[in-house]
Amino acid sequence: MKLLQVLNGEPVYPPPVWLMRQAGRYLPEYKATRAQAGDFISLCLNPALATEVTLQPIRKFGFDAAILFSDILILPMALGQGLRYAEGEGPRLPPLQKAAELTLEKAPGIYAPVMQTVANLRACLPKETALIGFAGSPVTVACYMLDGQGGTGFPRTRQLAYEDPSFVEDILDVLTEATIVYLQAQVDAGADCLMLFETWAGIFPPAQFRKFVIEPNRRIVAALKAKNPGIKIIGFPRLAGLMLGEYIRKTGVDAVSLDTVTDITRAKKACPENTIFQGNLDPLLLKLGGAAMEDAVRTILATVKGTPHIFNLGHGITPDVPEANVARLMEIIREA
Ligand code: CP3
Repeated sequence: MKLLQVLNGEPVYPPPVWLMRQAGRYLPEYKATRAQAGDFISLCLNPALATEVTLQPIRKFGFDAAILFSDILILPMALGQGLRYAEGEGPRLPPLQKAAELTLEKAPGIYAPVMQTVANLRACLPKETALIGFAGSPVTVACYMLDGQGGTGFPRTRQLAYEDPSFVEDILDVLTEATIVYLQAQVDAGADCLMLFETWAGIFPPAQFRKFVIEPNRRIVAALKAKNPGIKIIGFPRLAGLMLGEYIRKTGVDAVSLDTVTDITRAKKACPENTIFQGNLDPLLLKLGGAAMEDAVRTILATVKGTPHIFNLGHGITPDVPEANVARLMEIIREA
């Protein structure tokens, strides 16, 4: 598997490629399967259909990795918090009032279908295609749990981080523990490597970044590596800025996914030697296609040649991306 070769530090060229949100609404077959499932959460919890949507982009584009089809908010749902997806509006949760509202014991039973999806996938994916398991990182998941929705900059979470940090830390403790068990279950079910999505890392000032971002991610990586010595973990501390190097050194992740605003060459200088990167094409260019996209793809390829790198976007693919642009992207990379 080219993806694992890179995660083991081998430069592979052309680089292995997959795209965040590669299973999604830009694919008509995804929309059809989601309609069959009824709604998004039912799709995440239906192993046969979740397996199908995970495989759709692999069949169509031949990506080097498949990412389990699920969502970072399945875990808080399994811990007992209500979750719904309002059509076209994103997730809605009843804002959490105390950590004691969460129960760890029942969670594995509720997310059991996700583990069945992982097992199905490992059994039917081509052997050269890596299967990525994932979870949201604790404070990113907590942002949705405390504010009840995205899109508004998480004002309650940010205020609580100053006014009631022990409440935030109590939630992070529960989530950290639950995330370790959840990711271990994915490894046991057949995930080849893992990714931690810390989408909202960039909203926390340095002191909070250390407590709320680095420390929970560090604990998760340490626990999983203690039990699974060879397991590779990709972190995605989005918009971490100058905290990126410290995040890598202290969490012990094997690789980091870079957001669109981070220059790969400068990140290499600021991070520990031999850091492995993933990313970071602007998803907007994948929508626009044409010369702008092609130039940006070639620039990334030239920058990473000779180093271990995983080609990806700087954030998730959007529903308005034409499939033809994804096919063209793959052609450029494969011909490099
Ligand atoms: O990448 C993949 O193909 C794997 C599946 C995956 C999804 N969400 C499917 C999804 C993964 C890894 C995620 C992670 C996720 N979910 C994150 C972290 C990464 C990121 O994008 O920042 C976050 C913050 C979430 C929470 C979430 N889920 C939001 C805010 C939304 C609504 C936004 C939107 O695009 O509509 C979702 C819904 C969601 N998760 C969809 C998919 C395919 C769209 C659901 C649909 O309508 O079919």
